[in-house]
Order: sequence, then structure tokens, then C-alpha cells
Amino acid sequence: MLGVAPLLSINALYTIYFYSANALTGLMWISIIPLVTFAFLLTYLHKYTWYKLEHNKPLHISIIAAAVLVFLFIPLIFLANINLMLFPEKWGTVRGFMSALALPNVFPRYLHFLSASMAVTGLFLCWYFGRKNYPFERYFTTLTRYQVKKKTYSLAFAFSLFQFMIGPVVLLTLPAKGMNWRLLGIIFSGAAIALPAMYWMWKAITGPEEHIDKHFGKVVAAMTLTVLFMGSGRHVYRANALAPHKKLMAAKTAEFERLSAEARMHPVEEEVETPPGEGGKGAAIFQANCSSCHRPHEKLVGPPMTEMVSIYKNDVAGLQRWIKAPGKKRAGYPQMPGFPQLSKEDLNELSTYILSIK
Ligand code: HEC
Repeated sequence: MLGVAPLLSINALYTIYFYSANALTGLMWISIIPLVTFAFLLTYLHKYTWYKLEHNKPLHISIIAAAVLVFLFIPLIFLANINLMLFPEKWGTVRGFMSALALPNVFPRYLHFLSASMAVTGLFLCWYFGRKNYPFERYFTTLTRYQVKKKTYSLAFAFSLFQFMIGPVVLLTLPAKGMNWRLLGIIFSGAAIALPAMYWMWKAITGPEEHIDKHFGKVVAAMTLTVLFMGSGRHVYRANALAPHKKLMAAKTAEFERLSAEARMHPVEEEVETPPGEGGKGAAIFQANCSSCHRPHEKLVGPPMTEMVSIYKNDVAGLQRWIKAPGKKRAGYPQMPGFPQLSKEDLNELSTYILSIK
């Protein structure tokens, strides 16, 4: 649930990039939904067979292990996607999830994410079990409250320390194209703010029992700031990495707009020789409905009119049937749209005109 908001903001900020990455890893991306469902069902199964499987520990543990594996796999799909969206230049060669996974940086970022989750979990549990109104003694019989707090606090400390090691790896495996001094400034400020937090955590864990809570508020505040800094660093990297691509798109759009404006100003004269009399109306109908796809002598979207003549010169009814409801004949041509709205009279004019082409 907590992931929905970030996902929506990425979607709004980077729509075309995100959708392209989603489409390229389509099957895996969409399978997140059944995978999450499946993993949650496994955790329920584990919970509600607690007593039933008391004597079959291997099975019971396998159930939760399978759930954990699926839960661990899901962020990898996310990361492969979020990473892929930063590299439009790779979209031409990426063939699905596996090759998106092989891009540099996916696995370091994955570890970085897992380790951050563990650090946050450690801090959360430390607060949770330490709350005054938590009936600790009811659930824990062998451990004291202090011992549990110390363990969970140590967990947060160990994984925060690990972040200091894996963080630089993430930074180094990031392709240089999105790097600049501003980004490094943000990242290093974030890391610097975490340093006093590390010191306070260490003091609390190694200090006397009554001091374990002393710096907790400051640690949480500093770590929150660090997360904010790292988050905005990510945003800056994304913006940097995608800037050239955005420029290219803007240039191509401008060029397209220029060309189409020019085409509207100077329309190409159609070289349809309008036969006199009867043919005049047919030619106008052709001009209005068919000329965007058919030329007299060369192939455009559809075959040339001379080809129509050679097929239908003795079959006006067949020609009219086709125009009203075209079939699918030629390989490599798109489907021709039908013209059921043309009146019988218009069809006659039109087919007379077509069959008069030489
Ligand atoms: C959007 C493009 C498009 C428009 C507009 C269009 N056509 Fe076509 N037409 C095609 C294509 C593509 C084919 C080839 C389809 C195939 O072979 O499957 C085709 C094929 C034909 C054929 C050959 C039929 C055959 O038996 O091989 C005739 C005749 C024809 N069009 C007449 C017309 C007429 C008349 C109009 C206007 C009322 C028209 N088309 C409008 C795209 C178009």
C-alpha cells in the first residue's frame, strides 16, 4: 500500500519513460499482481496452519520461506523497471525482464533497497517493543524488554552501516550520464546527516541499559532527513539522465510541427486528370474519400487505380461491393476502411470514374 503513492508520482512525472519500461518488461510487470496475491495467501496459510503443522516443521517453514522468496523477488521486478526507464537508449535492445535485469546497477540498487528496509524495520521494531503501553511481558518470557530493544536497534545499526558500503557501489555503477556536482552534493549531504545518527545509535547500544532511549528521537529525525536527501538525489539523477532524451523528443516534435505546417501551407497538387461530364462528380468523391490512400499510377497506402481497373473492368458490382465492405487481400497492406455511407448513386459515379482511368 505504501508503494502506491511513489508509484503514482513516478507515473505522473515520467509517464512515457515509465510506460515504455513497463511495456518492455510487460509480462513480469503485470505478474506483480498475482505474485503479491500469492505471497499474501502463503503468509495466511502459514499463520492458520500454526497448530495443524506443529509436527511438520519442514512443510510449515517451507510455506513461509516460499512467501519470503516471492516477496523478495517483487522489488527486483520494480527495480528492473525503474532502472530501465532511465535508459531510453537501451530500449531498442532490451528483450524483456531478463535483459532488463542484466543492465548494470540493478543488483546494487536491489541490495541498497533491501538493506534500507531492514534498517527501517529495525528502528520500527525497537520503537514498537519499547512503547510504554506495549504488554511486553505477556508475549516475551525469556527475553527482557531491554534485550529486545538492543537487538532490534543493533539490526538497524548493522544495516545502516551496510548502507555506507553498498551506497558507494550504487553510485559507482550508475551510468555517468546522470551524474553532476549537484547530485553528489545531495547524496553526500544525506550520508553526512546519517553519520551522527550512527554515532548516537552506537552509544545507545553499547551504553548502560537506562540510556538506550536517550537519542532515539534524534536518530529517527536524522535518518528521515537522510532518506529525504537520498530520495531527492534519485529525482535529480533521473532528471539529468533523461534530459538529452527529452531534448531530442522536443526537437523531433518541433521538426514534425514545422513540416506539417509547411505541408498545410503548400499542399501538393493532385495529378488526377478529371474527365469531363459524368466523371466529374465521381472524381470529386474519389478525391474526398480515396485519394489519401490511392493514386492513379503508383502504390500509396493501397494499390494504384490502374490495378483496380485491371481487376474490376468487367465487374462494376464487385467493385462496389468492395468499396462498401472491403475484404483483406494483400499481405503487407493494412486493412482498407469500408464506405457503407456512400449512396447507390455516388457509388455509380465513383466506379464509373475509377474504371475510366487508363
Ligand atoms: C485508409 C486508406 C484507404 C482508403 C481511404 C481507401 N482505400 Fe482502397 N485500399 C486500401 C488498401 C490498404 C487496399 C489493399 C487492401 C488489401 O488488399 O487487403 C485497398 C484496396 C482497394 C481496392 C482493390 C480491391 C481488390 O479487390 O483488390 C479498391 C478497388 C479500392 N481500394 C478502392 C477504394 C475506393 C474507391 C476508396 C474510396 C471510396 C478507397 N479504396 C479508399 C486503402 C484505402
